[in-house]
Amino acid sequence: MRSYFFCIIWVVAVAATDSNPDATSIFNGEGCANDQLFQTRIRPQIQQLASNVQRIIDHVMSANESGRTYRQLAEFVDRFGSRLTGTKNLEDSIDYMIDLLKQEGHDNVHGEPVQVPKWTRGNEWARMIKPRDKKLNILGLGYSEGTNGQTIEAPIVVVRNFTELEQKAGLIPGKIVVYNFKYESYGKQAIYRHSGASRAAKFGAVAAMIRSLTPFSIDSPHTGMQSYDVNVTKIPAISITTEDADLFQRFSDRNEEVIVQIYSENHNEKDKGISRNTVSDVRGEKYPNEIVLVSGHIDSWDVGQGASDDGAGAFISWRALSVIKKLGLRPKRTLRSVLWTGEEFGLIGVYDYIKKHRNELKDYVIAMESDIGTFTPRGITYSGKNSTSQCTLWEILQLMHPINATTLTISTEGSDVQAFYENGVPISSLDTANDKYFYFHHTQGDTMTVEQPDDLDKCQALWTSVSYALAMLDDRLSR
Ligand SMILES: *[C@@H]1O[C@H](CO)[C@@H](O)[C@H](O)[C@H]1NC(C)=O
Ligand SMILES: *[C@@H]1O[C@H](CO)[C@@H](O)[C@H](O)[C@H]1NC(C)=O
Ligand SMILES: *[C@@H]1O[C@H](CO)[C@@H](O)[C@H](O)[C@H]1NC(C)=O
Ligand SMILES: *[C@@H]1O[C@H](CO)[C@@H](O)[C@H](O)[C@H]1NC(C)=O
Ligand SMILES: *[C@@H]1O[C@H](CO)[C@@H](O)[C@H](O)[C@H]1NC(C)=O
Repeated sequence: MRSYFFCIIWVVAVAATDSNPDATSIFNGEGCANDQLFQTRIRPQIQQLASNVQRIIDHVMSANESGRTYRQLAEFVDRFGSRLTGTKNLEDSIDYMIDLLKQEGHDNVHGEPVQVPKWTRGNEWARMIKPRDKKLNILGLGYSEGTNGQTIEAPIVVVRNFTELEQKAGLIPGKIVVYNFKYESYGKQAIYRHSGASRAAKFGAVAAMIRSLTPFSIDSPHTGMQSYDVNVTKIPAISITTEDADLFQRFSDRNEEVIVQIYSENHNEKDKGISRNTVSDVRGEKYPNEIVLVSGHIDSWDVGQGASDDGAGAFISWRALSVIKKLGLRPKRTLRSVLWTGEEFGLIGVYDYIKKHRNELKDYVIAMESDIGTFTPRGITYSGKNSTSQCTLWEILQLMHPINATTLTISTEGSDVQAFYENGVPISSLDTANDKYFYFHHTQGDTMTVEQPDDLDKCQALWTSVSYALAMLDDRLSR
């Protein structure tokens, strides 16, 4: 069985993974032969688009153009590095993008201001001091408070899950809770990162250390967002490596006492900051008010360089518009690129956008997002239930044989675009062979080295082709 992953926000992942386990299925064109509307009206239009779609693929993969997405992404990522929400560096990188999108000839290039939180990672460290001395590789989690200038020193209590936490309630006051869950998928276990500190605090813990959310590790801690429940004591929330979580488990199984020290200057600033969603268009010639949206998020965690999460998704999205412009193609609908801000701190940019554009959402054909890696593309996912629209996307993907990315998966997955789904707009995610995505996710290892120029070209060709086709069909996708 293939597993589907979301980038960042546990809520989204949990919703789709747990409450609706059968939501994901591969669509193989069944029933399309008997769909009159599709056969008589839509399929002929797609066949007419085939030559322009082939031009897009040939162009992106051509000797002259190949590697361009990689090179442009590398220039951006190498120049700015990580782009944490609330920092000047993120805003400088947005200024750079606004200039670049103007140079690229996009229409309507602008930033839409968004109020964002400011969380700062200060000096932080942790050690095991008993039964022996060992430095721990840690990363404080987003929104976590620090240790108020003190060093916390306390024995640990290791739990596998929340049931065990409750069973050990009597042991927890004054201790540091270590969550050592068994990783099955990001979606299933992200709740430990998100809520582990609050739940431990309710039992009187002084800090929480949470196993990194990854199937593979070379002693690398993975950060990510957590949040405090209302009225809970805001104890430090820290991610530890899977190796250290396993070590603590073994000591615990042997009933050996482990004592840990934690020091952290992490804190939430009182003042909010201002960031921006970065919007640009290729204006539609026939139905300018109807929008096909492509997107990724420009903010990242402060570790690594945010190349994979989500520089690459942002770059294939705006570059789709540039490719269409360069080829002189004139879409009937407006193609809009949005580079979301504040994704890592809770989808802040997209919710602001939805609030401001709510009245236009009825005219959005689809909201597409790339935020689960840009590895070898397989195809796309799509949330829409109408079988004619599924046939439409399936037929468009059959034009992707040259790059072997023809798979249509019916799924409601998505991170930023979930906000569109909640508001009735169908959503789509780039689907790639991303089995290793969570090896790098939210770590120092999220660098350009994760990205491959040829895979990025294929993702670029796919993303451009699908968004172009949806902007061209006179019958817009039915919801
Ligand atoms: C490739 O680039 C070269 C140098 O810029 C140019 O002369 C040539 O026309 C380009 N070829 C195509 C097919 O665009
Ligand atoms: C929780 O962890 C305990 C201890 O490892 C285990 O016995 C129990 O089956 C787990 N419960 C659940 C619901 O996973
Ligand atoms: C939080 O604490 C305040 C003050 O004690 C109380 O009025 C409020 O109901 C509490 N909120 C929740 C959600 O428990
Ligand atoms: C085409 O993609 C499928 C998965 O989507 C993969 O199993 C197959 O090996 C790929 N074929 C080639 C020739 O790369
Ligand atoms: C799908 O949408 C088409 C076009 O709007 C409509 O004619 C058809 O009835 C819808 N199909 C279903 C199963 O609702």
